[in-house]
Amino acid sequence: MEISFLLNGERVEMDVTDPTVTTLDWLREIRGLTGTKEGCNEGDCGACTLMVTDEHGPRAVNACILFLPQLHGKSVTTVEGLAGPDGTLHPVQQAMIDKHGSQCGFCTPGIVMSLAAAHATGETDVDKVLAGNLCRCTGYAPIVRAAEAAMAEPAVVPALPGALLERPFDPEAEAVLPETSDDLAAWYAAHPEGVLVGGATDLGLHVTKALRRLGPVAFLHRCADLQGIEETEEALVIGAGVTISQLIPAVSGRYPDFAAMLTRYGSVQVRNAATIGGNIANGSPIGDGPPALIALGARLHLRKGDTRREIALEDFFLAYGKQDRAPGEFVEAISIPHQPDRLGCYKLSKRFDQDISAVCGCFNVTLEDGRVADARIAFGGMAGIPKRAAAVEAALIGEDWGEEAIDAAWSAWEEDFQPLSDMRASAAYRLEAARNMLTRYFLEDIGAATRVREVSA
Ligand SMILES: Cc1cc2nc3c(=O)[nH]c(=O)nc-3n(C[C@H](O)[C@H](O)[C@H](O)COP(=O)(O)OP(=O)(O)OC[C@H]3O[C@@H](n4cnc5c(N)ncnc54)[C@H](O)[C@@H]3O)c2cc1C
Ligand code: FES
Ligand code: FES
Repeated sequence: MEISFLLNGERVEMDVTDPTVTTLDWLREIRGLTGTKEGCNEGDCGACTLMVTDEHGPRAVNACILFLPQLHGKSVTTVEGLAGPDGTLHPVQQAMIDKHGSQCGFCTPGIVMSLAAAHATGETDVDKVLAGNLCRCTGYAPIVRAAEAAMAEPAVVPALPGALLERPFDPEAEAVLPETSDDLAAWYAAHPEGVLVGGATDLGLHVTKALRRLGPVAFLHRCADLQGIEETEEALVIGAGVTISQLIPAVSGRYPDFAAMLTRYGSVQVRNAATIGGNIANGSPIGDGPPALIALGARLHLRKGDTRREIALEDFFLAYGKQDRAPGEFVEAISIPHQPDRLGCYKLSKRFDQDISAVCGCFNVTLEDGRVADARIAFGGMAGIPKRAAAVEAALIGEDWGEEAIDAAWSAWEEDFQPLSDMRASAAYRLEAARNMLTRYFLEDIGAATRVREVSA
């Protein structure tokens, strides 16, 4: 497959023979650009951070779980391309020297690239920017000082790649970069066994950790019509290709708790790559998007060839590893019906940032005259799929909204969930945490202070 992009300002046009080669391997092993480091090779440590720029602007991403064709149409900056042509250091590089932000230096290129991307966008929340960059020896104080010093300097934004080579789309090809969802539908009809790559924050690990080969593959990042965010009269419609970083501002006005929870989804690099379509389609029982979306009554829009259908999101998840999706059918969009905001989201994980949920509970309880008129409660981490707490909802509906009703629903939790014990939490802990989340939701609803000792970034 032919791709083109800018690498440190220089145009690269190439025929990719292995579409699942990672950008990190290509940079280091083929281009000899070894400044970009390999730490974990699974998106966790940020040693491989690059800056990628496209029509959505510059952003930091992890090269270890970014397939090379995902660069098509973008401008890529590695640590080697950050200094000016005359060797003048980027303000972030200079500040890292001045503030002693590096010791062994292994993490430093990744940290510099994360800070350079933040510098280019004017992002000033340094804790957020660095949550995905692990430094084992310097300690973060000098790095934060460097970041703050660099912010005083004007932003440096890389150029875009300009016009791409126009090639007719071939739906028979084994590896493709469709520009529209029509092209994607045609390809998927011809390759129903094929793999769709959204952000590759799951699929990247299938290759780097499970050493799988993906077979026929379509990269979705060029399908602009999968990346829309639209407010209709009835709903907020979000394209499957919208990244978690783009989703946060889209939901922050209507559902601030959902947006706040999403700021704890992975790290900046992961949120910049991961798409909401991938987060749903992978069917994970511990994904953070589905519980909140189910609690909001979201609808899933699926397409196969020219046939479209719409289902309640909760009906998509059939059993562990099994979703209501036919071969050749893909997620086009998700829509959230407009409603008054009653959503409360609670993500429980061992670390505040960059950690998968042990339990993720989302509550949407509607009241009329102090009584529970409706309840939509959905959990991740409590079953083999993201799942509604139907028995708890039934126990609450019609009751006066209060601790008595919550206590009366006590045994219903065990009807709804028989969670597993695993490395993230024991079954008993999960069940107790879920129950306590409902109490917390109620207490917050009546204005009680529950966040007294909450950890924040
Ligand atoms: C370091 C790290 C931290 C993470 N932290 C979190 C976290 O805090 N919370 C969380 O929920 N997840 C987390 N994840 C998991 C991952 O980010 C999500 O599951 C992610 O949303 C997957 O989206 P993607 O676009 O990257 O999917 P991909 O990896 O591209 O694809 C995942 C699956 O979805 C399919 N797919 C993608 N798009 C479509 C479509 N439009 N139609 C049909 N099928 C499609 C693919 O074929 C594949 O089977 C983390 C991952 C990493 C590596
Ligand atoms: S090598 Fe650790 S995030 Fe890429
Ligand atoms: S300077 Fe050694 S890991 Fe950060």
